Amino acid sequence: MKKNLYRKELAGFKPYVPGKPIEEVKREYGLTDIVKLASNENPLGPSPLAMEAVIRAVKDINLYPESTAVELKRDLAVYLGVKVENLVIGNGGEELLMLIAQTFINEGDEVVVTAPSFGIYNTSTCLMGARIITVPLQKKNFDISGYCMAVTDKTKLIYLCNPNNPTGNIITKTELDELLKKIPKNVVVVLDEAYYEFASVNPDYPKSLGYLEERPNTIILRTFSKVSGIAGVRIGYLVTSEENAAEMNKIKLTFNVNRLAQEAARGALRDQEHIQKTVELNYKSLSMMEAYFNKKEFDFFPSNANFIFVNAKQHSKIIFEELMKKGIIIRPGYFWGWDTWLRVSTGTEAQTQKFIDELEVILCKG
Ligand SMILES: Cc1ncc(COP(=O)(O)O)c(C=O)c1O
Repeated sequence: MKKNLYRKELAGFKPYVPGKPIEEVKREYGLTDIVKLASNENPLGPSPLAMEAVIRAVKDINLYPESTAVELKRDLAVYLGVKVENLVIGNGGEELLMLIAQTFINEGDEVVVTAPSFGIYNTSTCLMGARIITVPLQKKNFDISGYCMAVTDKTKLIYLCNPNNPTGNIITKTELDELLKKIPKNVVVVLDEAYYEFASVNPDYPKSLGYLEERPNTIILRTFSKVSGIAGVRIGYLVTSEENAAEMNKIKLTFNVNRLAQEAARGALRDQEHIQKTVELNYKSLSMMEAYFNKKEFDFFPSNANFIFVNAKQHSKIIFEELMKKGIIIRPGYFWGWDTWLRVSTGTEAQTQKFIDELEVILCKG
């Protein structure tokens, strides 16, 4: 009899399909200029101070990195007003999400998520043999009472992607307060704030670090991939209670975050000018798209992030393929089961205009 080689949880897994790489689209379509609005990257490029830091650090790559990323942790502790012991540094937010699952989730636990949302919450939970309970968005918002009702004595963890990917809506301070009042303190609440800097200009966005003292089983996750533009070196961090952080740091890979990434993040943290410019450009680009969508009478989610989710009223696979022929890569909504919706990252003003113009041509052809 054939022995089953693989973890039983893998049986139901579908491979994750990332956005098409620029190089592949160039080759396939014989194009030279590509506008990638598919992965919520920074259209202004990397933080200049991060680049300088990488160049300085490159001469030392014969040496292993600092395993605890202590210099970066010290910088972050000052920047955030937390203790070094509250921090875990990861090879991108993705690694941290996997680490959260490995640290907390047992077989038989329940984990509450919304839908549509970031896929790793589901895959990491299923991999650990736990059950996902889905509370879909309601009228473009988190369903707070739905979340409360979904929590049982089996619930280990709840994920709140804030702003939510792919939709860009937020859970407001008022909503979060209401939710946290009803969720037992031994349930771990993960606030995924990968798009924090974009959302924090909204006065209704919660100041999540303030919840930690009252509620130590809160995890706040952020990344340098988006606003700082260093997705390619892979680095993110989370803030939680000292006890939770110690457990996670126990099982992380020894040298999970490389030397160049650690230095790039330190540079990026000092580069508030780049962050500010990026956020300003983001809202210009969003308002260009919103104006166009309003003219077309398209339904869209008001965005608090560097992407927008819109119903273009035609199948997203067709629009995705037609745009790709013009050298524009977006994320089609059918991946999440939202067939006529598109998730489009913000570009420079010229890139955003190109997207609008080409979409108009495609829609007119019908
Ligand atoms: C909601 C959310 N969380 C976490 C991440 C992980 O980002 P990274 O691994 O690049 O830090 C992403 C990336 O797209 C995201 O959209």
